[in-house]
Amino acid sequence: MVNLTALKTQFIQAYGSDESGIQVFHAPGRVNLIGEHTDYNGGSVFPAALTFGTTLLLSARADRKLAFASTNFPLTREVDIEGIAFNEADDWTNYPKGIVWELAQRGIELSQGYNMLYHGEIPNGAGLSSSASIEVVTAFALLTLEGKSIDTVQIAQWSQHAENQFVGVNCGIMDQFAVANGVKDHAILLDCDTLKYELVPFQSGEYKLVIGNTNKRRGLVDSKYNERRAQCEQAVQHLQQAFPELTLLGQLTLEQFNANAYLIQDETVRRRARHVVEEIDRVAQSMVVLNNNDLDSFGKLMNASHDSLRDLYEVTGIELDTMVAAARQVPGVLGSRMTGAGFGGCTVSLVHEASIERFIANVGNVYEKATGLVPAFYVCDIGDGVHQVKEEV
Ligand code: GLA
Repeated sequence: MVNLTALKTQFIQAYGSDESGIQVFHAPGRVNLIGEHTDYNGGSVFPAALTFGTTLLLSARADRKLAFASTNFPLTREVDIEGIAFNEADDWTNYPKGIVWELAQRGIELSQGYNMLYHGEIPNGAGLSSSASIEVVTAFALLTLEGKSIDTVQIAQWSQHAENQFVGVNCGIMDQFAVANGVKDHAILLDCDTLKYELVPFQSGEYKLVIGNTNKRRGLVDSKYNERRAQCEQAVQHLQQAFPELTLLGQLTLEQFNANAYLIQDETVRRRARHVVEEIDRVAQSMVVLNNNDLDSFGKLMNASHDSLRDLYEVTGIELDTMVAAARQVPGVLGSRMTGAGFGGCTVSLVHEASIERFIANVGNVYEKATGLVPAFYVCDIGDGVHQVKEEV
């Protein structure tokens, strides 16, 4: 629950303006239910927006400066709209700066300066897309206040582009897309090649999604992530012997892959590619079983997804594997897997509501004993994508 009154007071303390000019926007974090490391391979993903995220308060300034402050970090910055550049020392403010840079690339020059205060409820570095939510809320707020048209698919694309080109993280489209286009109680089936998407009501009845944060910082995530991407590209090159037009692994069916996997000589690269093609197939299977309200089968697909990320794609690690294994031991758990990039971060489990207390106690205990880290758990509802906030939220 965000206390808007308190945030407005903080805004006024930081910038000294009066309350009447302050506008408020919100973008959620996201959890991916299945379809991991498929987005940059042109495959499908199945994420959902969370009910918590980043709230942005902003008001216009008389000059052409942008001021950034956060309730989460002490670092503040004031920059000129013209000549925005990436600077390592600017830390988190590189995300909103990247959006201003991106808008300028698209011919959208801000007509005035802004004071901005960010308030994040997403644990930082937990793989729940705190950076995507900062990017998307900034783009949405600035476009709204500048009176420009709002297209949330385009906002996702521009935000991803800013993260790739300005911040220098080579992520796919999933996070920004989910944060920009999520709808309460729905997951998003997104084809990352065409960006066609479908909102799928996520009716889990007596079962709840429970996020487990390993609180293991995702060390080396960028370099390992880029290594996986490069391996997928290598696999495509080998498979082009059979499919000269192939540009992305997601363009192959499982049958086509199975018949031609031998063309990939490197065993590690072959395993990476197998994960991607099988994971895309699991997303398709998930749609069939969820359509039949068969949560049992969906849980099994979640488990298979994690096992493949552990054994074939190798992006889990001891913390995620321990937490997932402990989760699966608790009666009333239909499935459990890592979510996001991996290498630490969070798990997501489908847990019967009557088992949630036991789940949190048991998994917490086993995990803490095995790793020495204290985990955190969030029973999560699915929320809306980016929007302007008029009332207390
Ligand atoms: C991170 C990236 C996404 C996606 C996932 C893995 O969250 O930002 O684009 O690749 O990892 O599915």
